[in-house]
Amino acid sequence: FFFKGFILFYSFKDFIYLFIDTEREAETQAEGEAGCMIMPWAEGRSSPESFSALSWKADPEAHTPPPLQEPSGPSPPSQAQQKESVQAVRRSLPVFPFREELLAAIADHQVLIIEGETGSGKTTQIPQYLFEEGYTKKGMKIACTQPRRVAAMSVAARVAREMGVKLGNEVGYSIRFEDCTSERTVLRYMTDGMLLREFLSEPDLASYSVVMVDEAHERTLHTDILFGLIKDVARFRPELKVLVASATLDTARFSTFFDDAPVFRIPGRRFPVDIFYTKAPEADYLEACVVSVLQIHVTQPPGDILVFLTGQEEIEAACEMLQDRCRRLGSKIRELLVLPIYANLPSDMQARIFQPTPPGARKVVVATNIAETSLTIEGIIYVLDPGFCKQKSYNPRTGMESLTVTPCSKASANQRAGRAGRVAAGKCFRLYTAWAYQHELEETTVPEIQRTSLGNVVLLLKSLGIHDLMHFDFLDPPPYETLLLALEQLYALGALNHLGELTTSGRKMAELPVDPMLSKMILASEKYSCSEEILTVAAMLSVNNSIFYRPKDKVVHADNARVNFFLPGGDHLVLLNVYTQWAESGYSSQWCYENFVQFRSMRRARDVREQLEGLLERVEVGLSSCQGDYIRVRKAITAGYFYHTARLTRSGYRTVKQQQTVFIHPNSSLFEEQPRWLLYHELVLTTKEFMRQVRGPSFAQESEDVWGGRILARFNLLRLAEKQENINLR
Ligand code: CDP
Ligand code: MG
Repeated sequence: FFFKGFILFYSFKDFIYLFIDTEREAETQAEGEAGCMIMPWAEGRSSPESFSALSWKADPEAHTPPPLQEPSGPSPPSQAQQKESVQAVRRSLPVFPFREELLAAIADHQVLIIEGETGSGKTTQIPQYLFEEGYTKKGMKIACTQPRRVAAMSVAARVAREMGVKLGNEVGYSIRFEDCTSERTVLRYMTDGMLLREFLSEPDLASYSVVMVDEAHERTLHTDILFGLIKDVARFRPELKVLVASATLDTARFSTFFDDAPVFRIPGRRFPVDIFYTKAPEADYLEACVVSVLQIHVTQPPGDILVFLTGQEEIEAACEMLQDRCRRLGSKIRELLVLPIYANLPSDMQARIFQPTPPGARKVVVATNIAETSLTIEGIIYVLDPGFCKQKSYNPRTGMESLTVTPCSKASANQRAGRAGRVAAGKCFRLYTAWAYQHELEETTVPEIQRTSLGNVVLLLKSLGIHDLMHFDFLDPPPYETLLLALEQLYALGALNHLGELTTSGRKMAELPVDPMLSKMILASEKYSCSEEILTVAAMLSVNNSIFYRPKDKVVHADNARVNFFLPGGDHLVLLNVYTQWAESGYSSQWCYENFVQFRSMRRARDVREQLEGLLERVEVGLSSCQGDYIRVRKAITAGYFYHTARLTRSGYRTVKQQQTVFIHPNSSLFEEQPRWLLYHELVLTTKEFMRQVRGPSFAQESEDVWGGRILARFNLLRLAEKQENINLR
């Protein structure tokens, strides 16, 4: 039978029955169609070392930490009580018994690798210990880096609460386009990218006494670059303390990299986790997830559920499906709180996942990878893992960066499973077969540096005076072609000269925390006197294609609203138009609602715009407006993005640089028009290779003007750059 999509047609009695009688259903499924929605769980072996009974220490009861938040009872606890309970929670964390030992090790060694199970208190406690120990005396600061914005924000908020200070005073965070710190801030949580930018203003990090590179196992591009830079700084600043904190992965490599620095292990507190696999692969993992959550909810004892999905859209869809089905089941099932968590979720919504589950109810948190190691949610007993994540990949030959849903690694799968065993013995349901786990998953995730474009980082390193990139101390070096392409592109943009040295314009470009092409566009707006408009375009491009809102029940209205913003000349001008009209409405949320525009994205664009405007002075660009002369705006865009040119051929569009076949995204304002020349903001690979945010059509003519006809010469730079690199980089 087809269970898919028909779950609600069964009476509740059948519903329970269907779930419990898995044996029978498994058979039914075998002879039925793929995508049967009863999960016939096969109990698998616990994964080799991670879930051995050895890691199960002492009595579970004794280790269960007290609730994190004060229960909101009728009489709120007094301040003193609250303080006491905060301290009790702090003392209950696995890192606490090692406080003195850890501080002694830090005092004894300049570099220390700290390994500990997720949730043991590395991120929130260690910086506080250092603070208490006096590492912030004489105005010195402690930096703690996080790969993710959300983690930096939420952890800083947590620590501020524990210390009883206002966020932004002693404890603050700083992420791109958002700085919540002040003169007084001594504990700085920041994204790894922000610490990297600190090197520009303070190459020896002189105002920091301790740098803690946290979540090092994530191996983000920025973290990897930080390793090289910090190792270098540590050599000539013997008093600087370097801590590299990581979940229980890869620590030996970090130690080797930092000249055999000692590893400090915080013994884990992990209860056994039973792992279940599906007997057959799942065709539709989203549907399978939803059904499995309900299955767990109905058949399993109390305990919250954590589901790993790959991104916002998927998470929203799953949450909607879950809520919908719960609503229809009504009082037949106990209350199920469905809470999403992903990077763009507003912070008040994010905070909800940390609130304790009301008695009698069950919470299901539907999360991205963010809950894998950077965030710990109390009370999770069940983990549901479809085995996918969204991963960036980059092909230097085509210059194509894509974000695709790919199977996660074994290391990831084990981290995910581990989230179920934090407070008591747990269960992890994997929506794939045991065979797939053994044979199809990679051991570990490839470090980001090997699968991303490097323009930004190369520009930054060059402006830090690091000339010899081939010999930079990389933990894992990036592919040679990627590095070369980055150099070539920076040369084409005029950021590097023919000797591979940073130019004045390159120095300015590095000042702006955006991609080199975007920086170039902003700098060019000075020449064409349209910086006001270009700032808007840049800000709108930075908010990631989430401007328009398209509810399923109002598709026609939404599409009409979108088309109303169209202007001849392409999507950049459409974005400009949306923003300008919104600004004219007094930045109104009502206006957004009426025009099917996402208010949240617009608010973020406004923030980004303000931040960029504040940086203009540093790069010597004055504020000016083109007064409706959009040709000037288009020229500035061309100056930054000429590299991204495509030409219409008989078989569709081809990129001029790499001769890739590409298509205009159906959402583009130029989708119908199909102009002969196009300039695109980015390529995305979904069902096809799409160009997003395109502009035309008089591109060739304008570029002539901007580049004085040298454009094609500049496209053939690879050999030149390589020659340069031979001279300068080896
Ligand atoms: O860094 P590590 O994974 O070792 O642990 P942590 O992030 O310092 O978390 C320690 C404790 O603080 C955990 O019990 C978390 O649940 C709690 N925490 C929280 O309640 N809210 C946050 N925003 C961060 C941590
Ligand atoms: Mg942490």
